[in-house]
Amino acid sequence: MSPNVAFREVDEQTLAAVLSVTLTAEQEPYVGTVAEALEEARELPEGKPWYRAVFDGELAVGFVMLSWNVPPNPPEIIGPWYLWKLIVDSRYQGRGYGRAIIEKVVEIVRAEGAETLLTSYALGSDNPGPFYQHVGFSPTGEVNIDGEIIVALKL
Ligand SMILES: CC(C)(COP(=O)(O)OP(=O)(O)OC[C@H]1O[C@@H](n2cnc3c(N)ncnc32)[C@H](O)[C@@H]1OP(=O)(O)O)[C@@H](O)C(=O)NCCC(=O)NCCS
Repeated sequence: MSPNVAFREVDEQTLAAVLSVTLTAEQEPYVGTVAEALEEARELPEGKPWYRAVFDGELAVGFVMLSWNVPPNPPEIIGPWYLWKLIVDSRYQGRGYGRAIIEKVVEIVRAEGAETLLTSYALGSDNPGPFYQHVGFSPTGEVNIDGEIIVALKL
């Protein structure tokens, strides 16, 4: 069974905790930091960013960011429902948090009428492709503007 996760807004109560979420030295160059994701969200309002800190009780375990019902404009903007960032702290990876976050995102976007959840990933060592396949995503055959593999989950 997936662990329980709660999505909390990033505000003064949660900011320090979510900024403490970190990846391994191998993963970080591909995915970036939470601070960089928050900056990207500020810089790209056209991507319709929606993001949350992910907690298990009082422990910050991750961060998630979506494009929220964005008008698609490929290859720059993939949508309407695009998982833009998914970060599980390296100390807590492999414990079901990634799957639990996907399940919660699916619940949220389905309630908004989403039919497909899209995401993409860069090829490289330790890439999340096998994880996405494992939780039900399949390649669409397309790549995004950075050459990342686009995968889709039918809801
Ligand atoms: C990718 C990531 C989100 C996965 O989160 P996680 O909490 O480690 O994954 P989970 O423990 O929930 O794994 C869920 C399932 O996927 C499988 N899985 C996870 N990583 C896998 C891998 N590399 N290869 C094969 N299967 C994998 C698990 O075995 C598990 O299977 P099960 O549910 O049948 O037991 C996490 O490792 C991470 O943050 N990586 C770095 C950042 C990143 O690449 N983010 C995505 C792009 S923005």
